[in-house]
This record gives sequence, structure tokens and C-alpha cells, in this order.
Amino acid sequence: MDALQSVDRTKLPQHIAIIMDGNGRWAKERGEDRVYGHHEGVVSVREIVNGCAELGISYLTLYAFSTENWNRPKEEVNALMELLVNTIRKEAEELKKNNVRMHVIGDFCSLPEICQKELNEAIDMTAANTGLNLILALSYSSRWEMIDAAKKMAADAVSGKLKPEEINDTIFHKYLNTAAFPDPELMIRTSGEYRISNFLLYQLAYAELYFTDVHWPDFRKPQLYEALLNYQQRERRFGKTSEQIQTNTPQHA
Ligand code: FPP
Repeated sequence: MDALQSVDRTKLPQHIAIIMDGNGRWAKERGEDRVYGHHEGVVSVREIVNGCAELGISYLTLYAFSTENWNRPKEEVNALMELLVNTIRKEAEELKKNNVRMHVIGDFCSLPEICQKELNEAIDMTAANTGLNLILALSYSSRWEMIDAAKKMAADAVSGKLKPEEINDTIFHKYLNTAAFPDPELMIRTSGEYRISNFLLYQLAYAELYFTDVHWPDFRKPQLYEALLNYQQRERRFGKTSEQIQTNTPQHA
């Protein structure tokens, strides 16, 4: 029986978040330029988006470019932005056809104008889709997001729209870039690094973390199914005891 057949369709995470790491190392191992690794990474993006859509996963967040990635050599940053623009331009129709709805989180205004334009077009084109929500984290970092939320809350407090004593988990969540999405239940990081790297720090509070040595360009559907099988073996306790969980069905939100 292959991994897909073993995946229990009734116990899938609603939201998967992925740190797509290892493009550079994958390319280097083949004597190629880092950018070649990013190009192959796009093939994995396509396959994982399709894999999630086929399984009926509702949300997939991909960490495509972090705030810190701006510090990479200029040529690599330019190549990544160009790849992003070309990929979105090429794939938008396919996303639309496959009922995938695209979203972006991150400091949108810091992206090159051409990138913003292509992204906005793809977001508009797919806005009516009801299948997988594909969330691209671009120029994103969790600390940026939380500071941005704090600024907006402070402004609303000053203008009288928000009472500081009323701030709770629900209200705080509304000020985050991810306000419209449930928290991920599963976070995958490829390429053998055991870090969260400023990714969804607030939202991953109760996520199951899955780390694999596989570099992102080699992370395809079979590797996704392996991650899901691993997730399905975990007991999600949300701070409760194992006994409490066994008498109450754990939530998947
Ligand atoms: C990490 O590998 C990967 C990135 C910084 C970029 C990820 C981008 C893509 C997969 C392509 C564009 C995505 C979309 C959604 C069109 P790394 O370069 O840090 O690898 P290394 O750790 O081996 O150096």
C-alpha cells in the first residue's frame, strides 16, 4: 500500500504551513547555481499545491520570501522576484481553473511594483474560488507582523475604537495578516534545519512540527503524504492530559 492510500482522509489538517528550505544546497550538490534550485523549487510548489488541493486541504501557507531574505545578494533577490513574477503570471490561470484561491501575507508594499501588480491580478482572478486557499508569505516575518498589529491596535486605541482592557486572543488575531485564516495544525520544514525562522510564531502555538532532511526541490507528493502520516500519529493535547483527550475528540482547529 503506498503512502497516499494510508493517509486517513478524516484526520487531515485543515491548514498546512511550509518553510521551503534547501533550494540553494540542492543546487550546490548538483554543481549548479542557487537560482537553479529556486526554479526546481517552483516545481515542488506546483506539485504540493496540487497534492493539497486533491486531498481537500483548505489552507496552505508557503514561506516564499522572508523579511530577512532581502539581505541576500542582490542578484539572488532579483532572481527570486523575477521567478515569482513569472511563476504567478504563468500559473494564475491554472490556479483559477483548479479552484485555488490565492492570498498574500507580509509587507506587500515592500515588494517591487511589478510583483505587486501580478500578485493583485492573481488574487483578483481567483477571488471567487472555493477550494484550496494558497497563502504566499512574501516579505513576511512574524515579528514584522506582530509589530504591525501592535501599531494598528495602538492607533485604534488612541482613536477610541479599541479598549485596551478588551484585547484578548480573538481581538489580537483580528489584527494579524492571517486574520482570515485558521491557525495551521501542521508546520513542515524541509532540509534538515530545526528552526521556525520568524514564521507564524503566534499562529503555530499548537501546531505539530515536522522536520525532514529532504531539500525542498525533492519534496513532492510522496513526501507530503509521509508528513501527513506522521502528523496523524501525533496526539494533539492542547495542554490537556492524554486521558482527557482520549475521552474527548481533539479539535483540529
Ligand atoms: C529557501 O531555500 C528558499 C527560499 C528562500 C525561496 C523559496 C522560493 C521558491 C521555492 C520559489 C518561488 C516560490 C513561489 C511561491 C513561486 P534556500 O535558498 O534558503 O536554501 P539553502 O538553505 O540551501 O541555501
